[in-house]
Amino acid sequence: MCGIVAYSGRQQARGILLDGLRRLEYRGYDSSGIAILNSTPYLARAVGKVAELERRVAQDEPQGLVGIAHTRWATHGKPTELNAHPHTDCQRQIFLVHNGIIENYQALKNRLLAAGHQFRSETDTEVLVHLIENAYNGHLESAVQKALLEVQGTFGIAVVHAAHPAEVIVARRGSPIVLGISADASLAASDVSALAQHTTQVVYLEDNEIARLGPGEYSIKTLDNRAVSRSATALERVAGDLERGDFPHYMLKEIFEQPEAVENALRGRVNHSEGVAKLGGLESVLDRLSQARHLIIVSCGTSYYAGLFARYAFETLTDMTVETELASEFRYRKLNIRQNTVVLAISQSGETADTLAALREAKRKGALVLGLVNVVGSTIARETLAGVYSHAGMEVGVASTKSFTSQLTILLLMALLVGRSRDLSYEEGERILRGLEEVPGQIREILKLSDAVRELAARFCQASHFLYIGRKYQYPIALEGALKLKEVSYIHAEGYAAGEMKHGPIALIDPSFPTVALAPADGSFDKVVSNIQEILARSGPVIAITTVGNTRLASLVNHVIEVPHNVEILMPLLTVVPLQLFAYHCAVLRGCDVDKPRNLAKSVTVE
Ligand code: G6P
Repeated sequence: MCGIVAYSGRQQARGILLDGLRRLEYRGYDSSGIAILNSTPYLARAVGKVAELERRVAQDEPQGLVGIAHTRWATHGKPTELNAHPHTDCQRQIFLVHNGIIENYQALKNRLLAAGHQFRSETDTEVLVHLIENAYNGHLESAVQKALLEVQGTFGIAVVHAAHPAEVIVARRGSPIVLGISADASLAASDVSALAQHTTQVVYLEDNEIARLGPGEYSIKTLDNRAVSRSATALERVAGDLERGDFPHYMLKEIFEQPEAVENALRGRVNHSEGVAKLGGLESVLDRLSQARHLIIVSCGTSYYAGLFARYAFETLTDMTVETELASEFRYRKLNIRQNTVVLAISQSGETADTLAALREAKRKGALVLGLVNVVGSTIARETLAGVYSHAGMEVGVASTKSFTSQLTILLLMALLVGRSRDLSYEEGERILRGLEEVPGQIREILKLSDAVRELAARFCQASHFLYIGRKYQYPIALEGALKLKEVSYIHAEGYAAGEMKHGPIALIDPSFPTVALAPADGSFDKVVSNIQEILARSGPVIAITTVGNTRLASLVNHVIEVPHNVEILMPLLTVVPLQLFAYHCAVLRGCDVDKPRNLAKSVTVE
């Protein structure tokens, strides 16, 4: 989604800002822009890729040590040059970039128009820069503060003014801003990946805070003017994660990083002597957690499917009643939150606006709110009472892969932790832990099938539609497999519970409509085979994912992918991998932009 980068330092700003934008490209965007302060401030904006903006900037060679830049993901107004950020005031003195949505923009715009302000775009953002212009009387930070007090909605902003050539003002409410500080420069961005090349010292801004940046210095206060003292914390690892190495795409690199991601998720968290998981981040709430009877999981996208899997895992391993709810729907349901209700937010980015809104709602209602988050220091991580980091490393590909397997691993550890404080036996706990430790090696085996999966993709990638089916633990994997295919290859795909197929989707089956059937040798295998038979009887092609050595399917369907055998509840960690590879290869063969699929964003910071 939209990305912000800002710089105030002693080097030319343009290279640093453009480099930041390139590092934010993965979030998804449709236009970009840059403003650099000088005696005549420089502004350039372009529709399409950052490369287009770079081309223009290279021609103009703007000079200046302070500037702001933005990638825009259109919400209000089409992706045009005029709607791209930075926006500027009537006098072209103030420049502003914004992530989020200004909900009362129409009322503010009417008022500003009546006062004679001239608007150039269709965006909600432009009202901000005119509000600041209105409030300005020689002091930029106070003007921004005053303007923001009138605003309803969400914002992460960066603002510069031609009369303040060393200064950048940033502020946030509901949309992340992180500061990066080095000896001679200060940066700000919506995402640490834009800063990691330049500094290892970061400061996270909280909601309703405003910061003033100068070369190598910063100060923070609240929007209602209380001083905030916050020192920088060290940033680790991100820079290395940003390199693609020999892989043609981040998505493939991240699929191949899954053995390490699962290892990292397990590292230091396995207690064999007691057959239980050790999750330091949950220790402070362990008592409440072991009393809890009701778990509600809230999340979006791939994290939602991890949550659907967790429902099965918690129901199997604990005596909790579990509901998994789409975060965007959570607030419309009247869920009974009691004293012993736990709400678990799952999010890779830790910034998804719907998930954040759901957890705030749950907090208001008195639930114990926990998080399972990948990005350290993200808003969801900070707003939950306790939680677990997945430590999957930075995920750049928009379509989530290693985060998903990492989430499944930790959700199993969480269920085990709760289960062992109740009825779950040591033997059962230990069997799962041993099985989990097998998973990284088994994923490595599956990754060797990548070429074979590419051949399969070559046979099928021209299909217009796909059905994915699975039962029980494999049902969320069918949904995730279908999501991966549509996200990156734009092939229409539906995930269905295998048993539900005969209540509708079977009407679609014909020789041009392939089905991917998740059929490991488990307790549901015979029933899934019956569903496969029903498809074959209607001449539908079937690709089956099953367990090594399971010969029954080979005589039935033409295309079988075999994964190693593990404990039934752990099989989703294995069966999802060929589905990720299949989606990836289909997308490449169809010439799609795998890492940055059209219209999608990595971090969805609007509701
Ligand atoms: C976006 C991404 C998905 C992701 C979803 C939830 O739609 O494109 O890959 O699964 O957001 O994101 P989260 O960061 O909360 O897991």
